[in-house]
Amino acid sequence: MSQYDIAIIGTGPDPANPTVEGFAMGYRHAEAYREHDQCRIVACADVVPENARAFAEEFGIDDEGIYEGFEAMLAGAEPDVVSVAVPPAIHEPVVVGCARAGVGAIHCEKPIAHTWESAQRLVQTCWRHGVQLTFNRQRRFARPFTEAKRLLDAGEIGELERVTIGWGDFYDLGAHTVDLAGMFNDDRPAEWVIAQLDYREEDVRFGAHQENQMFAQWRYGNGVHGVLSTGAGSGLIDAAFLLRGTEGAIQIDVEDGPMLELERGGSREPVDVAGEDMHMAGTEEGRFGSLFQNRSVAAVIESLETGEESGLSGRIGLNTAEILFGGYESVRRRGRVDLPLDVADNPLEAMVDSGALSPEPVEDED
Ligand SMILES: NC(=O)c1ccc[n+]([C@@H]2O[C@H](COP(=O)([O-])OP(=O)(O)OC[C@H]3O[C@@H](n4cnc5c(N)ncnc54)[C@H](O)[C@@H]3O)[C@@H](O)[C@H]2O)c1
Repeated sequence: MSQYDIAIIGTGPDPANPTVEGFAMGYRHAEAYREHDQCRIVACADVVPENARAFAEEFGIDDEGIYEGFEAMLAGAEPDVVSVAVPPAIHEPVVVGCARAGVGAIHCEKPIAHTWESAQRLVQTCWRHGVQLTFNRQRRFARPFTEAKRLLDAGEIGELERVTIGWGDFYDLGAHTVDLAGMFNDDRPAEWVIAQLDYREEDVRFGAHQENQMFAQWRYGNGVHGVLSTGAGSGLIDAAFLLRGTEGAIQIDVEDGPMLELERGGSREPVDVAGEDMHMAGTEEGRFGSLFQNRSVAAVIESLETGEESGLSGRIGLNTAEILFGGYESVRRRGRVDLPLDVADNPLEAMVDSGALSPEPVEDED
């Protein structure tokens, strides 16, 4: 078993109350590496020096491991694995910089990047440099989802026909939910997507615009459909996720009641998920967040050890990003978008910039 020197880029200020303006995912990653006996956190970099200093104190990093610029950190600390937890619009320069500097593995936060072009370039650059690239979709390791996948693989609902999602939003949480839909369908790419959205009240998360309501449908190459209805339309789906098969259904909830239920032959039974839900570490509900984070980091290390591709890989992540950017492109084009996606930008951002969408600015509470 190898030992790995770990560095974090983008520590965050570790807020007491994580929000879409700052979650300090760098802390969440580091907490998971600290739990892993093959990992040693040796360095951190943040453009805000006091963030890096506070982080170093928390995780026992020596003074010489504290940096402002990530390039200097890569040269000085020569880490084996780098976690990237900076805002999405700068994922590309940081990840590409790490790949070119010869880092062996990069574990980056979702979403992959702020545009489709940037997402593809970033994944391709890592592939060319032989770098193991993963994106942190830690909910893949939450028991309600892993158990649902196990039931699917065991044929408990026959052949999967569609995955419907009534939870969250399309872009920010969608980087998890649409990704999970892909996981349920063995990580196939989609072949088309059609969507409509409503964006009347400004909502910016982690630096990116986020619609208020979305209705999207997409089809995978094997004929399975994905459907997502969020915001005012979320009640349409009856659950956070509903997986419909030829012989039954699996229902996954996020708040109340049984987290996972199996429906077949006219009856419904709860499935044991050891009390796990799917919330994020650091939030009030997030009792299990750190557990999922630990499993995510464990998957990164396991891939390094075995050479096997993780479900968190950049290649698989592009399947999700293509549906998200493709969904926004469908809104812009007013029609179905056949994939592969042939635009470069984030169509939602472009529609806001051009005035085609003009959400009402939200008053600052301070
Ligand atoms: N996986 C999840 O469930 C989840 C949850 C929340 C946020 N996120 C993602 O995590 C990422 C980070 O979001 P956050 O809210 O944790 O950010 P944050 O604002 O809390 O922290 C980002 C840090 O990056 C630093 N930074 C900015 N530019 C830098 C650079 N060039 N070099 C070094 N440091 C730099 C900032 O100073 C800040 O300290 C985003 O991609 C976000 O979407 C993922």
